Amino acid sequence: MTMISPSLLAANFACLDRELERITRGGAQWLHLDVMDGIFVPNISFGIPVIQSLRSISALTFDVHLMIQEPLRYVQAFADAGADILTFHLESSSDPEATIREIHRCGMKVGISIKPGTPVEEVFPYLNQIELLLVMSVEPGFGGQKFMPECLDKIRALREKAPKLDISVDGGINAQTGAACREAGANVLVAGSYVFGAQDTAAAIASLQ
Ligand code: DX5
Ligand code: ZN
Repeated sequence: MTMISPSLLAANFACLDRELERITRGGAQWLHLDVMDGIFVPNISFGIPVIQSLRSISALTFDVHLMIQEPLRYVQAFADAGADILTFHLESSSDPEATIREIHRCGMKVGISIKPGTPVEEVFPYLNQIELLLVMSVEPGFGGQKFMPECLDKIRALREKAPKLDISVDGGINAQTGAACREAGANVLVAGSYVFGAQDTAAAIASLQ
């Protein structure tokens, strides 16, 4: 079964309650929350208070994608805000082992993400310690970019190494690129503009599944 994780980055921030209702009624199980600090990536999005407010109105699985420089410093705060899965970048400055331990200690599932330029082999040592691997199919920082097909080989290699791991893809996902990712072995599809930009949200989500 494929999980769909609509990325809030593409929602209308003036009415987040209605946006969440739209994707929940449309059949999404997860909500992807992109946190950017303007340092790890050249953009700033939203942070802990927004996630905390949304937690009080939503039962979706909160799939938080940290694009920040020192994720270890903020693990407890994201747990308190209501994150279910906390994904950090292998390229960020925190020690991966320590960050994995702290996320588990705080009761969340652990995800690691890699940028398009990072060889997939670099995450192999951590695969048996984490619950999710997020493969970036665009350079992190902005929604609405074009899918990079090079990520498909990474997904295949990961699926072979870790048959039971949640493998997620993020960036430029639509019905066509999503199908290619599923075929390669991904079971979680993150989609921002494709889902929130659709007139018929349920149809967009169904087309990804
Ligand atoms: C990019 C973010 C993505 C982004 C995806 O840095 O991690 O989650 O919102 O947006 P689309 O689906 O529009 O490429
Ligand atoms: Zn993301």
